[in-house]
Amino acid sequence: MKDLIRRAAKDLLASKRVVALTGAGISVESGIPPFRGHGGIWERVDPMVFGHIDTFARDPGKVWRVLIRDLKDIIDHAAPNDGHKGLARLEAMGLLSAVITQNVDGLHQAAGSRDVLEFHGSCAWQRCMDCGEKVRTRDVDIAALPPRCPCGGVFRPDWVFFGEAIPAAALQRSRQLARGCDLMLVVGTSAIVHPAAAMPMMARDAGAIIIEINPGRTPLTGAVSDYLIKGGAGMVMNALIAELETLTL
Ligand code: OAD
Repeated sequence: MKDLIRRAAKDLLASKRVVALTGAGISVESGIPPFRGHGGIWERVDPMVFGHIDTFARDPGKVWRVLIRDLKDIIDHAAPNDGHKGLARLEAMGLLSAVITQNVDGLHQAAGSRDVLEFHGSCAWQRCMDCGEKVRTRDVDIAALPPRCPCGGVFRPDWVFFGEAIPAAALQRSRQLARGCDLMLVVGTSAIVHPAAAMPMMARDAGAIIIEINPGRTPLTGAVSDYLIKGGAGMVMNALIAELETLTL
């Protein structure tokens, strides 16, 4: 692992446009469960039912009770971990241009990352389905579900449900970043949900180095990524930052 950390630090220093693609795994050490695997959200909730816009449109109160209320509670109280902080530090060191995240928890921004593209939207904000008013999720009164805007409309998370399109601007900029980077860090994603999972392939096809940080293998491993640094995001990012500081001193 030490060799791979050194290799990644050297690759980062030799690169000019570095982009990170992150997934639920980077927030696991902040106490937010991933979607898949042991203890994952989709183990207890069927994504094609409760993660789908059609179900929300039919019965928003039920989706709030089964899925969103718990997530709101976890996200309201979560704080960034060393994985998020490490990426923010890379940006501050001038070694990372942007983060494309599939996460909806707002923890990259809380850690200090400035250029964050929320590919699947955000659960830190709610949007009124009638008037479009946006409010912070932590300020929404959930005594009655679904919560409602003063105009009477239902509040929905400002995220992308299954059955909805990725916001055009986010999709376009992510593609630009993927095609234009010379190194992509892929952190804590199972890399199976498209179109986000296509970003590493796009970057690789444009000639970028792809480095995965994940405790387990993914479909990218050995196929799209150049190498996998096996481990939790916090531990790996701490080791990487320490190595970069040694090399640049
Ligand atoms: P997943 O839950 O599919 O995958 C989480 C990944 O994180 C797995 O590859 C784990 O091995 C890894 N992991 C676990 N602990 C980790 C740690 N401490 N550090 C680093 N990695 C760790 O999450 P995503 O790939 O983000 O979409 O899922 C993609 C999309 O599927 C989500 O954005 C969501 C979901 O359905 C929508 O809701 C539209």
